[in-house]
Amino acid sequence: QMQIRCLKSDHPACSGVPKTVIITDMNYYPVSRYHFDLSGTAFGAMAKDGRNDELRHAGIINMQFKRVPCQYPGLTVTFHVEEGSNPFYMAILVEYEDGDGDVKQLDIMESRPNGSKMAPTGQWVPMKESWGSIWRMDAHHPMHGPFSLRVTNESGKTLVAEQVIPIDWKPNKTYSSLVQFH
Ligand SMILES: *[C@@H]1O[C@H](CO)[C@@H](O)[C@H](O)[C@H]1NC(C)=O
Ligand SMILES: *[C@@H]1O[C@H](CO)[C@@H](O)[C@H](O)[C@H]1NC(C)=O
Ligand SMILES: *[C@@H]1O[C@H](CO)[C@@H](O)[C@H](O)[C@H]1NC(C)=O
Repeated sequence: QMQIRCLKSDHPACSGVPKTVIITDMNYYPVSRYHFDLSGTAFGAMAKDGRNDELRHAGIINMQFKRVPCQYPGLTVTFHVEEGSNPFYMAILVEYEDGDGDVKQLDIMESRPNGSKMAPTGQWVPMKESWGSIWRMDAHHPMHGPFSLRVTNESGKTLVAEQVIPIDWKPNKTYSSLVQFH
């Protein structure tokens, strides 16, 4: 999560008032050392009243930014199973993490049949950071849900979301846990 503002001296429509944006993705090949690709809404929000459109059409502008802690009151850590995921490949976007917002590690625990039920295997398997807050798992066998996820934040604190992804999970769906960093 970042606080950003444009510079009043650079553009007449710029308000100079800081706005908070959430950065989710990162480019592999940076445009420059620091460069934010903002949505039209975020871009316009930095404008003076009623001049959103004018600022949005400014193209590339200079900005100031600083990192601010994420606080999502009442929300818990949420996992979005990305489009294209299947039993051999899962990509998961971690959302709504309080604190500075960076996930240091995401681990996954599968289930396996035990009699007529599915039971957790008891083994955490590290996922690989794909890009942004997306973590991926490539498996050589079909993975079985329900899945538990373990999130480690930058301070090394871990949170476990038990069986947060159900057995009948689907790609492009969001699953909410009951847990949050505090
Ligand atoms: C990680 O989580 C702990 C609480 O579990 C919190 O105190 C700490 O600020 C978090 N670290 C970061 C870098 O957000
Ligand atoms: C399988 O189920 C039995 C009976 O419920 C239980 O005692 C056993 O610990 C389970 N095994 C695993 C690997 O979960
Ligand atoms: C994924 O879900 C979102 C929101 O539910 C929806 O707008 C979008 O069309 C879906 N994408 C695909 C490829 O199904």
